[in-house]
Amino acid sequence: RIAGPSGLVIFGVTGDLSRKKLMPAVYDLANRGLLPPGFSLLGFARREWEDQDFAEVVHDAVREHARTPFREEVWQQLADGMRFIPGDFDDDTAFEQLRDAVDELDDKRGTSGNYAFYLSVPPKFFPKVVEQLKKHGLADAPEGSWRRAVIEKPFGHDLKSAQELNRIVHEVFAPDQVFRIDHYLGKETVQNILALRFANQMYEPVWNRSYVDHVQITMAEDIGIGGRAGYYDGIGAARDVIQNHLLQLMALTAMEEPASFDAASLVTEKLKVLKSVRLPADLERSTVRAQYAAGWQGGERVRGYLQEDGIDPRSTTDTYAAVKLEVDNRRWAGVPFYLRTGKRLGRRVTEIAVVFQRAPHSPFDSTATEELGQNAIVIRVQPDEGMTVRFGSKVPGTSMEIRDVSMDFAYGESFTESSPEAYERLILDVLLGDANLFPRTEEVEESWRILDPVEEHWDTLGRPAQYASGSWGPEEADEMLARDGRSWRRP
Ligand code: BG6
Repeated sequence: RIAGPSGLVIFGVTGDLSRKKLMPAVYDLANRGLLPPGFSLLGFARREWEDQDFAEVVHDAVREHARTPFREEVWQQLADGMRFIPGDFDDDTAFEQLRDAVDELDDKRGTSGNYAFYLSVPPKFFPKVVEQLKKHGLADAPEGSWRRAVIEKPFGHDLKSAQELNRIVHEVFAPDQVFRIDHYLGKETVQNILALRFANQMYEPVWNRSYVDHVQITMAEDIGIGGRAGYYDGIGAARDVIQNHLLQLMALTAMEEPASFDAASLVTEKLKVLKSVRLPADLERSTVRAQYAAGWQGGERVRGYLQEDGIDPRSTTDTYAAVKLEVDNRRWAGVPFYLRTGKRLGRRVTEIAVVFQRAPHSPFDSTATEELGQNAIVIRVQPDEGMTVRFGSKVPGTSMEIRDVSMDFAYGESFTESSPEAYERLILDVLLGDANLFPRTEEVEESWRILDPVEEHWDTLGRPAQYASGSWGPEEADEMLARDGRSWRRP
């Protein structure tokens, strides 16, 4: 899988995402020999930069964030194809310049008219950028070549705004030209959910309501909002990651086997799950939102959310969100899926835990098995990628005492191959036109349908609950599970 002749144009190239993820990913792809020799990278932003200044910024980003070693010849080859277009999104001259640059690179580096436009910009600019691409003849591919649009989240603020954005984008680009990024789908372990479930025989028979008690999906982060107040405040944890990453993880965990591993079949199955997702009637008891208060993390005293720079001290934005969801289908009826995410939690960990029912009967002395937890299969998405199976075992000794133990699979121990960074994988897929790992319009809209009532409910409430930084979230979240006779795992 090596990309053919092509180029990538990044809008919003001065942003954090571009510097930390996109630029290093392009270099790593080149370094792994997965890009064609004439590959070209163009940046578009409101800066008075020359091509040379842009190349220096990319150079520094690569030096700081790339995964693969720096090799001068790879860098030079890539740097020769870098161009910078200074301008505003409503600046016609800048888009003319972009078109000229594309023509020039087609001639000089053989990019063959194949270009992907990466919109690493806030959604309010999407309409303008796609309109300009259309107006300046950049959205329509010349005969025999392709043009693609790559769109970063957040894709809207709610169902209505997402539908409006979809309408605008699809006025210019056909559905198969649009690649919506959900970088969780580019993670190795996330793709492995499907391999685990459908390449094996032993998991599927128990992967249903007859054996599973509930599923917990956790995405915990230790970082706060850092310098992202402008983006984060008013958006919050649920819109930032539940609407996309966590609902995608849930869909992959719950879906039926796809007819094949192509984009259409995957979307069909994921969409069926999302359409079957139901919120419990009582949102008061089945959702929790909260904000981090000051606390200790990594031995350091950290500020609370409301004291962060750029945050309105009256903000009600959630930095922690937990929801209970039901899936109304034959496989999952009655099995709750608990999703939770938060900033400034105990540590950075993302995992999916499928927790099984207790054995219907135990012949062992109940006092000896009292502490026994439930069997669980835990897919460790990050950082310690792998899988754990939890089960009870006899403690060595003369009595029949049972204790929980773990069986672990760790990527690092089983494979010598290193996994590409999510953005590397996804950028390569865009250049190859492989849409398997990109959510479709319908999925995005269905996810908003699930989340909208939760956000509307939260809007009617007063101040969010607080939790200490470095803790595992607010008491309310523990109470939510306790009401169901369950508890959150401590990853
Ligand atoms: C992004 C969110 O989508 O995912 C961020 O906007 C979050 O708020 C990030 O920090 C986490 O990504 P990862 O890959 O580090 O888990």
